[in-house]
Amino acid sequence: MPRGRLIVFEGVDGAGTTTQAARLHDRLQKKEIPAYRTAQPSERPVGKLIREVLGGRQIENPGFATMSLLFAADRQDQQDADILPRLYRGEHVICDRYVHSSVIYQSVTANDPAKRPWIKEINKHIIAPDITIYLRIDANSAEKRRAVRGGEPEIFDQKLFQRRLIDVYDSIGHIFPEHRIVTVDATQTIDEIESQVWQAVGPFIDPPKK
Ligand code: TYD
Repeated sequence: MPRGRLIVFEGVDGAGTTTQAARLHDRLQKKEIPAYRTAQPSERPVGKLIREVLGGRQIENPGFATMSLLFAADRQDQQDADILPRLYRGEHVICDRYVHSSVIYQSVTANDPAKRPWIKEINKHIIAPDITIYLRIDANSAEKRRAVRGGEPEIFDQKLFQRRLIDVYDSIGHIFPEHRIVTVDATQTIDEIESQVWQAVGPFIDPPKK
């Protein structure tokens, strides 16, 4: 049985990764193509701890290294327990955020691009996605979307931080030259974005029949 594909959505907070991951998942389900949608941080034990930390309820002022290690541990555990078994069963896995988030968010928190190689190193047993969709949005539009979404503020919500993140996300292709990354303009309507995502992803998972 052919291995399933791993499809990742990336972007700053408010870019719409969760919405587009859900849209892609629905589309595959309608076509009766086996697919599973997940996210990082995960719903597994380390992921739950991370959400507590992000909400400011555990570990006061964690540094970039602590956060990098937590995210890497969560990712490794989720890969071993959940993602790999599904891929090998032939299911496609759609993941909302992945190693790119660690390398970008945690190096921006450290304010030091020289930390990126170490963050990659601690994620070195993580498999590369078959395709990564980078949903690109400007800081103002992303802030408006986050405001509409509401919810408790998280430690990464400040606008200045989000601007610095966007600068680094815009070099995602240089930071991960080994990955296949497609940039989609995330200021478009949800339907337009969905259709561009499908143009990029469709050929991987639903090849035209000869
Ligand atoms: P996410 O679940 O996408 O946000 P939300 O709570 O709005 O659904 O991710 C939580 C935050 O964690 C988000 O600001 C990005 C950040 N993050 C990292 O800093 N490093 C990582 O490795 C990952 C996966 C997420």
